[in-house]
Amino acid sequence: MKEKLQQIKEAALSELRAAECDTEALRVRYLGKKGELTAVLRGMGALTPEERPVVGQMANEVRAEIEAALTARVAEEKERALNDQLVREKLDVTMPGNATRMGHQHPLTRAQREMEEIFIGMGFEIAEGPEVEYDYYNFKALNIPENHPARDTQDTFYITDNVLLRSQTSPVQVRVMEKQSPPIRVISPGRVYRSDALDATHSPLFHQMEGLVVDKGITMSDLKGTLETFAKKMFGEETKIRFRPHHFPFTEPSAEVDVSCFVCGGKGCRVCKGEGWIEILGAGMVHPFVLENCGIDPEVYSGFAFGMGLERVTMTRYGIDDIRLFYENDERFLKQF
Ligand code: DAH
Repeated sequence: MKEKLQQIKEAALSELRAAECDTEALRVRYLGKKGELTAVLRGMGALTPEERPVVGQMANEVRAEIEAALTARVAEEKERALNDQLVREKLDVTMPGNATRMGHQHPLTRAQREMEEIFIGMGFEIAEGPEVEYDYYNFKALNIPENHPARDTQDTFYITDNVLLRSQTSPVQVRVMEKQSPPIRVISPGRVYRSDALDATHSPLFHQMEGLVVDKGITMSDLKGTLETFAKKMFGEETKIRFRPHHFPFTEPSAEVDVSCFVCGGKGCRVCKGEGWIEILGAGMVHPFVLENCGIDPEVYSGFAFGMGLERVTMTRYGIDDIRLFYENDERFLKQF
């Protein structure tokens, strides 16, 4: 029996030293109720009274040794598992991170926001209108007669006889005046379309920003003050503006407005093509016919309007010499803003 105990001990300890060992199965097999050690103890009845305590003590020692080895092995496995996990989940906080590539607003959007802020600061609100527009709003209500060259299919994308892609943001004036009664103070930025071939200064799609103010007693000097404030904020405090008489069917009188060249200050340079001035918009006093078309009494109210090309203002502001750069999505260009 002593030999049997010795065998059991050696077998168990050697299994516990092996690389692979199912500790729980081992515990059951050696120490469990139906285990080998228990079987030996059950057979103790066959021993002499002298042998019994000796074998009993030995059996206890063997059990204690196996238990100790087992506990040690379990602890060792736990530690190894923990170490493995620590290695696997190691986080090196000194490693360089994955930098997120940040984009930014398109230069046109940026210029538009800047312009909006300037006008909002003067009490304007933003109004929007559809890009697919009725002939009525784009032309007729704006006092543009049937035979006007702007109505030519050469210039305007027609969808049907009376539906078109708006060629200007001016129709928003009409839509606002139909819905709102004075005082009105709105700007309306947005896309416009003309069937022009794409070149350095033309694009079939471009952007305008319309402005409209209608109230009692609005005069040309209000228009001048508003545009001067805008020009100084947009192009710098030194900027001057200049009105040149012009014709637009929806304003009377009408003017084209230039700003003094912010590069040379008016002396003449490459940016202003030696002129000293850069044309940025059209403007005027809202034509009484237009007010009437929108249900506003021109005897009581007067107003001014203006419309400027967003690309033009942005190109002027940043010294960009080709309109196509805005639409090509070339990062080398876009990154500069
Ligand atoms: N709609 C004109 C254009 O596209 C620009 C313009 C001129 C708008 C005078 C106005 C204005 O509101 O009063 O050429």
